[in-house]
Amino acid sequence: MCGITGIVTKNSENIGELLVKCSRKLTYRGYDSVGVAAVLNNEVHLRKDVGTIDDVDKRLKLSSMLGDRGIAQLRWATYGAPTKVNAQPHFGCKPVFYGAHNGNIHNYAEYRQELIDTGHIVRSENDGELCVHAVDKYYEETGDMFEAVRRSVSDLHGAFAFAVGRADEREIYSVKMGSSLVAGVGSNETIVSSDLPSILPVTKQVIYLKDGEMLRLTPSEVEVFRIEDGKKLNRPIETTDIDERAAEKGGYPHFMLKEIHEQPMVAQDVIGVLEGKECEDWLKLIEESSNKYLVACGSSHNAGIVGTYYFNKLAGIPLIPAIGGQFLPMYSNTLDEDSLCILVSQSGETKDIMNVLNLVEENNLGKTLGIVNVIGSTLMFNADSYVPMACGYEISVPATKTYFSQTIIFAYLAAKLGERNGNLDRDEAREIITHLSKDLPKYTQTAIDRTDILAKNLARTLVDVKDLYCLGYGFTDGVAREGALKIKEICYNHCEGMYSSEFKHGPLSIVTEDYPVIFVTTPEDSWMVINHINEVKARHGRIIVVGEREEKLEAYLASNIDYLEVPKAPLLLNPILDVIPLQLLSYYLSVDLGINPDLPRNLSKTLTVD
Ligand code: M6R
Repeated sequence: MCGITGIVTKNSENIGELLVKCSRKLTYRGYDSVGVAAVLNNEVHLRKDVGTIDDVDKRLKLSSMLGDRGIAQLRWATYGAPTKVNAQPHFGCKPVFYGAHNGNIHNYAEYRQELIDTGHIVRSENDGELCVHAVDKYYEETGDMFEAVRRSVSDLHGAFAFAVGRADEREIYSVKMGSSLVAGVGSNETIVSSDLPSILPVTKQVIYLKDGEMLRLTPSEVEVFRIEDGKKLNRPIETTDIDERAAEKGGYPHFMLKEIHEQPMVAQDVIGVLEGKECEDWLKLIEESSNKYLVACGSSHNAGIVGTYYFNKLAGIPLIPAIGGQFLPMYSNTLDEDSLCILVSQSGETKDIMNVLNLVEENNLGKTLGIVNVIGSTLMFNADSYVPMACGYEISVPATKTYFSQTIIFAYLAAKLGERNGNLDRDEAREIITHLSKDLPKYTQTAIDRTDILAKNLARTLVDVKDLYCLGYGFTDGVAREGALKIKEICYNHCEGMYSSEFKHGPLSIVTEDYPVIFVTTPEDSWMVINHINEVKARHGRIIVVGEREEKLEAYLASNIDYLEVPKAPLLLNPILDVIPLQLLSYYLSVDLGINPDLPRNLSKTLTVD
């Protein structure tokens, strides 16, 4: 949520252009409002308003702003409505201090009042403004910007990062206290940002930071300090091999469609990771633990549900799937030093997951295994070990290829564990692993090719539907929930994903003539799903089936049902492939409804708040 970018440059001609170009890469983090503060001849110029970066740039000509340093912010509203006054960056009491933050300040109400009571002019209802005032306050006391920034952190409670500067000082300062932050050193400028994609237009020379650290940026140097005692740290500059073009649409109308089409490649790349030597450590972590929890949110949680079925079937190992925010109240007292929390997060920054990571680390409650996509994220750095999803950048807010990669990781690890513990015999295990490593990329491509047009046509028939269900059974439980989440998220429809045998225990009463219910099934479970289909058919509901075409099903179904048919594939690949038509269906429906699926309203890709 929210993205900040700060740049200090030798060239005062293009600060606006650079900030807009770099910040645009953070659009997935927030698009409620945008602002740029640029400093020219020791005067701060601030332009900000509600809208996406392209809208606001067009209206306020952000790109034409001049200066040799500046800060930009893209906001996803939490504290304070998405209005111009709440847009960031903010000034301190006078237009001398300027700054912007990402994250949440939990003592917002008390601290805001304290500042007002001590004479601060607080203009907005946004917690980011308090960061600038905190620096302003300590500058009054110390007359030193470094000390003011360092001390300001002690007043601010929460998980956040901010960038701040002073009109008459050439440097920009930035702190990392629980939200992501990365810096870069280019030939003409230095940069700090919430995420790597916005550094790449400037440089590939990056510095990863840890919580409790602060930065000082000059035009040629980035210095890192420990906030606690102000000690300078020696942090190496690393060269990233990530290509800037990875964060571009590459000819597709939306990132979402591009990312769906990248899944055959993901299938190949993630297997490359799993076949590496580190896999032995991941397997041991799982084998040597007692209680095993699989903690994740949203799409990552749905993939975790699919994973739980794989672990049961292939390895005979129970995983306890838990929603990130639910874990502490539901399971925290059941952890001990032998437990394992498998923390699954695309961003590696989701606050609900960070809360679990911190609980385990601070109280020595067993081990953590991260499954993470963003390299350099907090989860990657802090988990005991991590499995990279190997997806490259996922820019579109709806998760597609990362969910897909997660399901492959679970299937692979479960098959390996099953082979080792004897739940599978060796040949059986080898066959499953061969299907995953050799055959899955081609089945994935066929599934995309075959269901694209079917999904597109089906979407047209659903544009007036406001309410539907998506049901799965066994392995397709998580798949159906994921399909429903996609439809809710990018089509603004109510689509509930649930277990198909539960439908008759209440929700079935919603079915009237033509009420749509999507059933996701595999040949293994269709004998059971047929019962559930019949229960809906008997009430004249509209049936949509996602899965392989099979005689058993056809014999029971009228010929006019909608079938999103995935290619025939080995049984255990089915749960991985079945999500593809649902991703495509939600994509086309979103586009037909005139929605930009990459940027659904009210959402942000990285949720670093509770
Ligand atoms: O980065 P994470 O995997 O921790 O994010 C978790 C959810 O916020 C995320 O999966 C969300 O549900 C997706 N955008 C839905 O498509």
